[in-house]
Amino acid sequence: MKTGMTELFGIKYPIMLAGMNWLTTPKLVAAVSNAGGLGVLSAQWYAADKLRGAIKEIREQTDKPFGVNLTLGVGARERIPVIIEEKVPVLNYALGRPPEIAPLIEAVHNYGGKVIGTIAMLRHAMRSEQLGADCIIITGYEAASHSGNVGALVLVPTIAEAVKVPCIGAGGYADGRGLAAALALGAQGISMGSRLAATDEAEVADTVKQTWVNASEEDTVIDPAFDGINCRVLRNPAAEKLLEKKALPLFDAISAGMHMKKTLGLSWGQLFKEANNLRRQAIGVGGGQRGLGSAMRFAVGGRLFAKATVEGDPVNGILMIGQTVGRIKDITTVANVIERTVKEAEEILQTMNKQFAS
Ligand SMILES: Cc1cc2nc3c(=O)[nH]c(=O)nc-3n(C[C@H](O)[C@H](O)[C@H](O)COP(=O)(O)O)c2cc1C
Repeated sequence: MKTGMTELFGIKYPIMLAGMNWLTTPKLVAAVSNAGGLGVLSAQWYAADKLRGAIKEIREQTDKPFGVNLTLGVGARERIPVIIEEKVPVLNYALGRPPEIAPLIEAVHNYGGKVIGTIAMLRHAMRSEQLGADCIIITGYEAASHSGNVGALVLVPTIAEAVKVPCIGAGGYADGRGLAAALALGAQGISMGSRLAATDEAEVADTVKQTWVNASEEDTVIDPAFDGINCRVLRNPAAEKLLEKKALPLFDAISAGMHMKKTLGLSWGQLFKEANNLRRQAIGVGGGQRGLGSAMRFAVGGRLFAKATVEGDPVNGILMIGQTVGRIKDITTVANVIERTVKEAEEILQTMNKQFAS
C-alpha cells in the first residue's frame, strides 16, 4: 500500500505508532518499524542521557526507519541535542513556538532527517508547513490524551485540503475501516496510539491491557482536571476522584513536582517556566487553564499517569486512552494489528470501488 506517507519515510505500510509516554518503549517502537510501520518513541519522560540510551536500544532491535516524538515543553531543550547528534530519522514535534520550531526543523533537515508536526487546528497546520515540516499529524477530538475540539470527520479533510505536505490522521484509528476512512478523508496514513498500546509487545501490565479490552467507546472522559490541559482518559475511580475534587492537596502537588524534577533532571525554576509555557500553548487550542492550580495538576497528573502505566494500577492510576478503546477487542502482536489493518482497508476500498463501478 503506497501513499505519500510510505514514500516520505521509506516504510511499507502507512501506519505509525503514536508517541505515548512510558508506553512507547524501544521494544514497541522497534516492533512497529519491523512490522513495516513507523515506530515512534515519546521522549516526554526521558532525561537526555536516558533518551540516548533508548535510541541506541531501538537501533539494536531494528534497522528500519523510526522516529522520536518531542513535546516542546518541559525538559525539551536538554533532549534536542541528543536527537540531532543521534541523527534520528524522523522527529515528531508537538506544541512549541516558531522561534524554537524553525531552527529545530532546519537542524533535522541538515542531517537528512524528516520532520512531522503534530497539530489539532488548521492554523497550526499551516504554520507547521510554513516552518518547513515535511508532514503533519492531524489529531482529532477522539484521540487519547491531548487534542483540540474538532473530530476527524471534519478536521482531516479541512487540513488535508489546505496544506501540500502529506497528512496523517490521529485519534480513533484502530483497524482497516479507520485506515480506509482516513485515506478517503484526504490523509496519507494513520497514527495509532491506543490500539498499538494494547499489543503483546507493549510493556504494560496485563491488568491494564485487559481494562482496555473490557472498556467501551463510552468509557472515556476529556477534561482539564487530570493535568491542567484538556486530556482524554479512561473513566475509572482515580479519574472520578479528580473530576469531583476542585482543589488538589498541596502536599500531593509538591511531592509530584519533586518526582518530575528529579526524573527530568531540572531545577524548580526550569520546571515552573516550562510547565507554564506548555499550558499557555494548550490554552491556544482551547484546552488549557491558567494559574497555580493548573501547574499543580500537571505534576500530579504526571504521577498518576505513571501509576497506571508504569506501576500497572488501572484503578488508582489515570489511564490516557482514546475513544477507540471501544474498538479494541483483543491483545495480539503488533505485526498482526498492522497486517490485518492494511488487508481490511484494501478489501474495503476494493469492495467500494466495485460497488460504485457497477
Ligand atoms: C498513554 C498515552 C500517552 C501519550 N503520550 C503522548 C506524548 O508523550 N506525546 C504526544 O505528543 N502524544 C501523546 N499521546 C497521544 C498520542 O500521541 C496520540 O495522539 C493518540 O494516542 C491518538 O489517539 P488514539 O489513541 O485514538 O490512537 C499519548 C497517548 C496515550 C494513550
